Amino acid sequence: MFTGGVLAELLLSAAGCTMPPASPHADPPPPAHPGAAGDAPWWKHAVFYEIYIRSFYDTNGDGIGDLNGITAKLDYLAELGIDAIWITPFYPSPQVDFGYDVSDYENVDPEFGTLADFDRLIAEAHRRHIRVITDLVINHTSDQHPWFRASRSSRDNPQRDWYVWHDPAPGGGPPNNWASAFGSSAWTYDATTRQYYYHFFYPQQPDLNWRNPQVERAMFDVMRFWLRRGVDGFRVDAIDALFEDPELRPNPYEARLRPGSATEHVQHFKYNKYRPENFEEFRRLRSVVAEFGPERLLIGETYPRRIGELRKYYGEHDDAFQLPFNFYLLRQPRLDATAFRNKVQQTEWVVRGRPTAYALSNHDDRRAYDRLGDGLHDDRIAKLLTLMLLTLRGVPFFYYGEEIGMTTTTPERLADVRDPIGRRYWPAQRGRDGERTPMQWTAARNAGFTTAQRPWLPIPPSAATHNVATMSQDPRSILRFFEDAVRLRRSSAALLDGDYRPLGEDPHVFAYQRSVPTQTLLIALNMSRWPSAVRLDPIKWDGGAELELKISNVRLPGQRVSAAWISLAPYEAAVFEGVRGS
Ligand code: GLC
Ligand code: CA
Repeated sequence: MFTGGVLAELLLSAAGCTMPPASPHADPPPPAHPGAAGDAPWWKHAVFYEIYIRSFYDTNGDGIGDLNGITAKLDYLAELGIDAIWITPFYPSPQVDFGYDVSDYENVDPEFGTLADFDRLIAEAHRRHIRVITDLVINHTSDQHPWFRASRSSRDNPQRDWYVWHDPAPGGGPPNNWASAFGSSAWTYDATTRQYYYHFFYPQQPDLNWRNPQVERAMFDVMRFWLRRGVDGFRVDAIDALFEDPELRPNPYEARLRPGSATEHVQHFKYNKYRPENFEEFRRLRSVVAEFGPERLLIGETYPRRIGELRKYYGEHDDAFQLPFNFYLLRQPRLDATAFRNKVQQTEWVVRGRPTAYALSNHDDRRAYDRLGDGLHDDRIAKLLTLMLLTLRGVPFFYYGEEIGMTTTTPERLADVRDPIGRRYWPAQRGRDGERTPMQWTAARNAGFTTAQRPWLPIPPSAATHNVATMSQDPRSILRFFEDAVRLRRSSAALLDGDYRPLGEDPHVFAYQRSVPTQTLLIALNMSRWPSAVRLDPIKWDGGAELELKISNVRLPGQRVSAAWISLAPYEAAVFEGVRGS
């Protein structure tokens, strides 16, 4: 049953596309996707897709992507097999950190659309069984947010304590040595009230004081605002930075300098990150989401110091994040079978059957296409990576453009850099623009992203070949492989619910078994430029003596091979199914 969505659709067709649905609040959560099996929560089987809204699709010709652009591309996403989208911040913002500096939590920046556009996006997504996750930026606001304007206006303003204010150190200067993640001191002096305020990120992003119960109440109401509008969950931003040490103990330094700086040492964020209070707060965030039923999801942007600490983010009683991010694959700098096998194994030990959110690319790091590509077999390697993400025991998060092999396109001139961090530490650091370039829809002007003269970031040269229109016509493209691999995952009980077992210790081939009682699969990823082979140990492999090829980035499926010797082409990625009774 999908009453809300159908109603919204009727209203829309009657009134053109400008009408919001009559009551988005009544919109029931969408039914489980046909591919989902059993009683597992929807997100356990879902394929997620991160949309950097500025760069996805522009419908009003200003060179910047918008909410209507996402709505316009929902059919594309549905066809791709995406179950849920995570949209980066679209709230009113001065855009210093491109939306991660929010000046109004309960509205849409005119650059991106209106609340009515958002309601329509939710209704249209749900109608296609696509869930919608929004970004929740709770550690800090914009310095233009009315809360901060009030807070900085005087020391006795009722909202003074909503942010983290301190006197200068005795003798002057910042209260302590804490550095901002984006460089320099985390403290900025405010002449009006002669105190410093704290900001873990840019000075235009003052940290909220989470020790103040009014702050918590206000943010919980923000969450309810969006949950009532029908969002299926939140990706919660920068959660490790929520609380700070109340004693302001100084952070230890590392010996090395920050890349691009001759004076700033890298700092170990011992006292302004990972505070024990954070973990108590995570449970409370979850209880707000749970007010709207067990289906609503909390994803954490979690950067544990050691992989072992990932476990803590689920909560002692699994009452915090259902899905903490696992950035260990994203941080892997080279294609290396041993490294991937170890990282996955460590994850398995830590999460003990809980779902983990795997990603290889996002809006803060270089794209996997060129980070892990060799420059010669990049498309083949991109398919290998896609297959890995879709076959590991975890929840895959793809970043827009990953399905067409978009490359990191870093600015070559300082004048072109948009991300402030890239301007500050140029040329050692060039910011995050490279992984945020416009989506490549067609081979035409501006890659079909915008009708504007100039998109907000330049179109990479690879748009000529790597775009949706061209690649959807090519049965051997990354895009078509992506669709096939998602389809395989959806129809395979072993991939959706099976256990995970690594096979062998080959330095070139990362191989593993996924199995349920009714199906055993072998996934073999040759991460080297040499032909390789897998010989299955009959003690560890219980899928039978004969295997059938289900998918490969090199050859056609259907072929049968012997478990005794499975040869793989350079960078071949393949899934085989054990033939029962063989
Ligand atoms: C998160 C976001 C990043 C942003 C930062 C500050 O790390 O992913 O893009 O700059 O938080 O909000
Ligand atoms: Ca904080």
